[in-house]
Amino acid sequence: MNHPATPLKPLTDAQQQALLAAARAAQLKAYAPYSKYSVGASVLDDQGRIHAGCNVENAAYPEGVCAEAAALSAMVLAGSTHARAVLVVGNGGKTHSAWTTPCGGCRQKLRELGAPDMPVQCANDTDLGPRYTLAQLLPESFGPDHLVRTLP
Ligand code: THU
Repeated sequence: MNHPATPLKPLTDAQQQALLAAARAAQLKAYAPYSKYSVGASVLDDQGRIHAGCNVENAAYPEGVCAEAAALSAMVLAGSTHARAVLVVGNGGKTHSAWTTPCGGCRQKLRELGAPDMPVQCANDTDLGPRYTLAQLLPESFGPDHLVRTLP
């Protein structure tokens, strides 16, 4: 199956710092002229590599792309379909009261390429926020496993 059943190893401090730096750098590249809400995201893949993305909005508003989706695309392009950890940097927790967490659509996208116990860390440009598992953000999720069929 897509995701190994073994529990994820905890992140090392170096991995956490690298994820944070990559997401913060990505946030600075965000194209968010409409919402003015810049987001950067980073993912750690199963080969220990880090991929980042930023939100890219569009004059046709629904066509905008979230930072997490962009980071996952970069990971797939680099040859991995297994995310091990995610970090999201937004203005939440600072200029807004709530920490920036992945939107509903991105939670499902993360579920496709990450296991339910994958950590999702929130942050802004000065602080770390709460850390969740993907299962906390998307309980009872529908994932790739549901489409595995046994032959008659
Ligand atoms: N956004 C993200 O890129 N990721 C999130 O986790 C939350 C929201 C973007 C979408 C849109 O460009 C802007 O933030 C405001 O919703």
